[in-house]
Amino acid sequence: MPGQLVLLRHGQSQWNLENRFTGWVDVDLTEQGRAEARAAGKLLAEEGLQFDVAFTSLLQRAIKTLWLALEELQQPWVDVERHWRLNERHYGALQGLDKAETSAKHGEEQVHIWRRSYDIPPPPMADDDPEHPRFDSRYAKLDARVLPATESLALTLERVLPFWHDAIAPRLKAGETVLVTAHGNSLRALVKYLDGIAEDVITGVNIPTGIPQLYRLDDQLNVIESRYLGDADAAKAAAQAVADQAKGKA
Ligand code: 3PG
Repeated sequence: MPGQLVLLRHGQSQWNLENRFTGWVDVDLTEQGRAEARAAGKLLAEEGLQFDVAFTSLLQRAIKTLWLALEELQQPWVDVERHWRLNERHYGALQGLDKAETSAKHGEEQVHIWRRSYDIPPPPMADDDPEHPRFDSRYAKLDARVLPATESLALTLERVLPFWHDAIAPRLKAGETVLVTAHGNSLRALVKYLDGIAEDVITGVNIPTGIPQLYRLDDQLNVIESRYLGDADAAKAAAQAVADQAKGKA
C-alpha cells in the first residue's frame, strides 16, 4: 500500500504581496505567509498525518513554510531533502516586474500565456544578468547547462519529473507518507503529471498559497483522489485570487 502524498505551496511571499513575478528570486515569507504555513501545519495535524519524509526547494519561502508546518505538526524531526528541481518555474526577464503593470503594458492575454501556457516561456533573462542562477553559489556544483534563464511549464516539468521518479516516488511506493512543499508552478507541473491534465486544461489551474492538497494513490502511484484540506470554498477562492493577480490595473 503506497503512502499518502501532500503537496503544499509556500505561504504568501513578500513578492506575492507586492504582486511581482518571483521565479528563482529568493524572497522571504510575509507575516501572513508565516501564519499560512502554521495554519497548514494545523490542518495536517487535524488530518492525523505522520510524515516520514519531506521534500522542498532551495528557496527560503518554501523551506521556511516546511519548517513552520512541521513545527505546528510537532514533527520537527522529519527528514527533509532540499533540491533545486523543486524550485519555482524561472520567470526569466519578468522576474521582479509587477504582474498587473505587465498586463497593462503587454496585454492580459499575453501575460496569461506567459503565466499559464504549457510550452511558451516568458522572455529570457540576459546571460550576464547578476540574478542569473549561474552566479548563485547554491547552484555552484550543478552543470551550468541545467540552469535556466527562463522556463515554460513544460521545461519546469522536464526538470521536476526526474526528482519525482528518483527521490519521491520510491518513498511513496515504500509506504511512506510524504510532504512536498514547493511553488505555484513547480507544483502545477507535478499536478499536471499526477492528474494527467491536458495541456489546454492546465492553463486554468492555479494553486493557492499555504493550503495542503492531500493525494491518495494506488500501488502504481495513479491518483485515486485528491482534495484540499480545510474549507473547500476557501481553497477555491484563494486559487481564483492567484488567477486574478495579473488583471490589469483599472
Ligand atoms: C511567481 O513566481 O511569481 C509565483 O510564485 C507564481 O506566479 P504566477 O502565479 O504568476 O505563476
